Amino acid sequence: MTESIISLKDISFAYESKPILEDVNLNIDRGAFMGLVGPNGGGKTTLIKIILGQLKADKGTVELFQQPLAHFKEWTRIGFVSQKANSFNKGFPATVFEVVSMGLTAKIGYFKFLKRKHKQKVLEAINQVDMIEYAYENIGNLSGGQQQRIFIARALVNDPDLLILDEPTVGIDYKNVERFYNLLHQLNENRGITLLLVTHDTGAMTEHVTDIVCLNKHLHFHGDTKRYTALTEEDLSTIYGHPVHIVKHNH
Ligand SMILES: Nc1ncnc2c1ncn2[C@@H]1O[C@H](COP(=O)(O)OP(=O)(O)OP(=O)(O)O)[C@@H](O)[C@H]1O
Ligand SMILES: [Mg+2]
Repeated sequence: MTESIISLKDISFAYESKPILEDVNLNIDRGAFMGLVGPNGGGKTTLIKIILGQLKADKGTVELFQQPLAHFKEWTRIGFVSQKANSFNKGFPATVFEVVSMGLTAKIGYFKFLKRKHKQKVLEAINQVDMIEYAYENIGNLSGGQQQRIFIARALVNDPDLLILDEPTVGIDYKNVERFYNLLHQLNENRGITLLLVTHDTGAMTEHVTDIVCLNKHLHFHGDTKRYTALTEEDLSTIYGHPVHIVKHNH
């Protein structure tokens, strides 16, 4: 039987009087790898803030793991990497290990009393993103793509059932984007983590996700990759509200 992880019903939201989301209905089942696409300002980050309870919808209901948002308390089941995951400058006084430990704070309080099992969790998370040799390196010495992996590790440290990522591949070069998608693919396939990924790089994404939704105030499209890639430039231009040219990725 399918199990609903996120259920949104008739969500509407406006900043002051500017409507951003209207009547959004969306269901994400356990095991899905959903790609959320749409034009800049289409409301993707706003929708994620509503899912995470950081903003309250004007209308509609949100359920997480089949519980109404207002009653939901198991936040450690959800890992989140934000669009503005701040990058660390050279000289920032924290190691990779310390940054990933911060992901545990929700569970154990401030991280000064890390027990051995917590230390192990932190190292496991760093290992999962293939960065173990950097565990005690200063975070500021890592490249942007490497830091992005560390943000994922921080989101993984509580063993989440759901991972939400808002444009995690910005500023990552082509080769590392592929590596990054392979990592997400593994987390989805091998660990059964449900994924919601906001992205603009629709070419690379379509090879890995199971579902695609396209948001521009309304949900304009929800289907599998096959149906998405069958959309014409005309369909996409209507959704995006400006001309869209499809770049075919041939591998
Ligand atoms: N705090 C705010 N106050 C007022 N308007 C806001 C606020 N945050 C976002 N907006 C507006 O809401 C709209 C949707 O923004 P949102 O960040 O959800 O878009 P997005 O789909 O995530 O875009 P992008 O692809 O550029 O990240 C935009 O027009 C934005 O200007
Ligand atoms: Mg956004």
